[in-house]
Amino acid sequence: MTSRRLEGAVAVVTGAGNGLGRASARRLSEEGASVVVVDINGDTAEQVSAGLAGPSIAVHADISTEDGVQSYVDAALAEFGRIDLHHLNAGIFGGFDALPDLSVDDFEKVMGVNVRGQFLGLRAAFRQYRDQGSTGAIVVTASIASLTGSADLLPYVTSKHAVVGLIHGAAMYGGPLGIRVNGVAPGIVPTDLFAAAASTSGGKNDMEQRASTTPLRRAGTAEEIAAVAAFLLSDDASYVTGQIVSADGGATIVNTVRPSGGAGAWNTDRVDQALYGDQWNTQRGIPQSSTPQGSTPQSTHEKGTAR
Ligand SMILES: NC(=O)c1ccc[n+]([C@@H]2O[C@H](COP(=O)([O-])OP(=O)(O)OC[C@H]3O[C@@H](n4cnc5c(N)ncnc54)[C@H](O)[C@@H]3O)[C@@H](O)[C@H]2O)c1
Repeated sequence: MTSRRLEGAVAVVTGAGNGLGRASARRLSEEGASVVVVDINGDTAEQVSAGLAGPSIAVHADISTEDGVQSYVDAALAEFGRIDLHHLNAGIFGGFDALPDLSVDDFEKVMGVNVRGQFLGLRAAFRQYRDQGSTGAIVVTASIASLTGSADLLPYVTSKHAVVGLIHGAAMYGGPLGIRVNGVAPGIVPTDLFAAAASTSGGKNDMEQRASTTPLRRAGTAEEIAAVAAFLLSDDASYVTGQIVSADGGATIVNTVRPSGGAGAWNTDRVDQALYGDQWNTQRGIPQSSTPQGSTPQSTHEKGTAR
């Protein structure tokens, strides 16, 4: 059962019409917050808001613009009179163009939402806390791409690295005021983020498969990310600020050049059985001391002697 640790708080969630933001809006509502559901898609924002357990309003706004951010602040104040918590979550992935082929427009579009939008959201939050004379808590959705690179997502990776700078800078400014700013960094959660690249390798179609090489050997759920965001917004995290909390199944701690890190192995059965033997077999209902078909360990590395 979810606790009611956010009872009485007013929370803004951006990008809350779908995916991680929708799960966050639901979680914060279940924990007792009144929720301002913000999305550039007004229809989905309305649907999410209508389905929440507690008080809520939907706001159709583009968070990459000053007017859009001001409109959700105004709507929140008109309905609830204050804002205590922010989950600045809306983001876009851009495209997979190779670096030489990237257009300035594509780069700026991603930066506009993922960086300018988060800056505008942070600034609005801090202005509101100043006007209210209150403390508060903010979570920004960062990414595994805030901490690591990839060859095919340069604008996205750049924007998510910049989000770390926003979090660190805002947390430094907010600390003496009692305002906490943290990031949650998801790894792979099969949402519609990559829906525009549904059939592209590295897009939506193989998210589950890619996640299978993480230490937890699976993708995350939107609810698992929402739980981390709710924790960071709650007083349970009262001594936590400026942190980027990874919720990625352990993906960021993997030594990717080791077989035990799944290097080059879409099917991790082979390295897992070599490493864990009968314990691994038992967990999967495989007869003791059997090996997956065609996967007899060949070398000392595959027998798990080197990690
Ligand atoms: N899904 C993942 O695996 C993953 C991993 C790491 C980080 N993230 C981050 O999580 C956040 C949410 O992504 P998601 O997976 O839920 O994607 P999603 O596409 O399912 O949801 C994003 C939501 O944001 C809204 N949105 C987009 N641009 C907006 C704008 N300018 N103004 C207002 N709303 C806007 C969309 O309409 C949508 O409802 C993003 O910041 C993304 O970068 C996701």
